[in-house]
Amino acid sequence: MKKIGILTGGGDCPGLNATIRAVAKKGRIVYGYETYGIIGGWRGLINGDVKELDMDSVSGILHRGGTIIGTSRTNPFGKDNKGDPERILENIKKLNLDAVVSIGGDDTQGVALKLFEMGVNVVGIPKTIDNDMSGTDFTFGFDTAVNIATEAIDRLHTTAESHNRVMVVEVMGRHAGWIATFAGIAGGADLILIPEKPVDMEEVYEVLRRRHERGKNYSIVVVAEGIKIPLENEKSEEFVLQTEKRDPFGHVMLGGVGSVLAKMIEKGTGYETRYTVLGHTQRGGTPTAFDRILGTRFGIAAIELIHKGEFGKIVVLRGNEIVPIELKDVIGRNKTVDDYWYDIAKVFFG
Ligand code: F6P
Repeated sequence: MKKIGILTGGGDCPGLNATIRAVAKKGRIVYGYETYGIIGGWRGLINGDVKELDMDSVSGILHRGGTIIGTSRTNPFGKDNKGDPERILENIKKLNLDAVVSIGGDDTQGVALKLFEMGVNVVGIPKTIDNDMSGTDFTFGFDTAVNIATEAIDRLHTTAESHNRVMVVEVMGRHAGWIATFAGIAGGADLILIPEKPVDMEEVYEVLRRRHERGKNYSIVVVAEGIKIPLENEKSEEFVLQTEKRDPFGHVMLGGVGSVLAKMIEKGTGYETRYTVLGHTQRGGTPTAFDRILGTRFGIAAIELIHKGEFGKIVVLRGNEIVPIELKDVIGRNKTVDDYWYDIAKVFFG
C-alpha cells in the first residue's frame, strides 16, 4: 500500500483544508493509499514530524480556513540549514513515504523541485493568496481574499461619503496587484495602485482632484502593499516595510504603505484622508465556494498524478481545465497583472 505525505508551506490561505481533504479522501477511497500530514511545511520533514490523516481527521474541514497540518516558511536549502535536505531524504525513507504532495507557492515549490532532482517523488499544488504564481490562471484563496476586500471597500464607501474623506485601503500583494485590481474593480475603487505600475504622486493627486471637482467629495484608493513610493529622505522609490527582518527565503516583510500614502494624499490634495490595512483578515476564515472547489479539483488531480507515477509536476488551472505541467517551468516567475485587467480598472478612475 502506498504512503503519501501532504504538506502546506508558506503563508496560509482559505482552501488549504479543502485541498488536504481531497488528497486524503481520494487517495484513501479510490486507491487505498495511506495519507500522512507533514506538520509545519518542510520543517515537518526535517524533523520527521507527521500525523496520519485518516478519514476521521479530514472530516468536517472542508469549510475551515487555515491548515490542519500547520505551515511555515522553512527553507531546507537556506544558508543556515546545512544538512536539512539530507535529513529530509532520511526521514522520507524512515517514514516509507512513496510520494509527497507539496501545497504551496513559488518558494515551497522551489524546494519541491530541488528535492525531486534529488530523487523524491513530488507532486505540487499551487497556492498563494496573491494569485501571482505562474502557470495557473488562479490559485485558491485568492477569490476569498477578493471577496473580503470587496466587502471592506463597500463598507468604507459609506463612511467615506458621510465624512467627505479619501479612504486608502491597503491589501496584500507582494509582487503583483491581483487582489487590489480585482477587489478594486468589484468594489468600484476610484484609483488602484499596484506594483506593476510605477506610482506618480502628481497623477494620484490629479485623479482625486478631478473627481472632487466633478462634485464627488469622497474617494476610495486601493493599494497593494508591494508598491514602491518616493519616501521622504530617500533618493529612490522604496517599499514600505514592517521590519528590517527578512523571511527564510529572503523576502522583505511589507506593510504600512497605506498610512504613508494617506499622509501624502492629505498633504498633496488638502482632502482629509484615512487608511485601513486589511492585512491577515484577507487570509483568514472560511473559503468561498470557488476556492473550496478549486482546492478540491487540485487535490483530486494530484492523486491522479501519483497514481500514474508522474512526478516533478504541478497541477494548474488553465481555462476551466486542471492540467499537469512541469514544476521547473513554474518556479521563479511571477504572474503579474497584465494590461487587460488594469485597463478595465482604469476606465473607472477619477
Ligand atoms: O505571500 C503571500 C503573503 O500573503 C503576501 O501577500 C504577504 O506579503 C505575506 O504573505 C505576509 O506573510 P506573513 O504571513 O509572514 O505575514
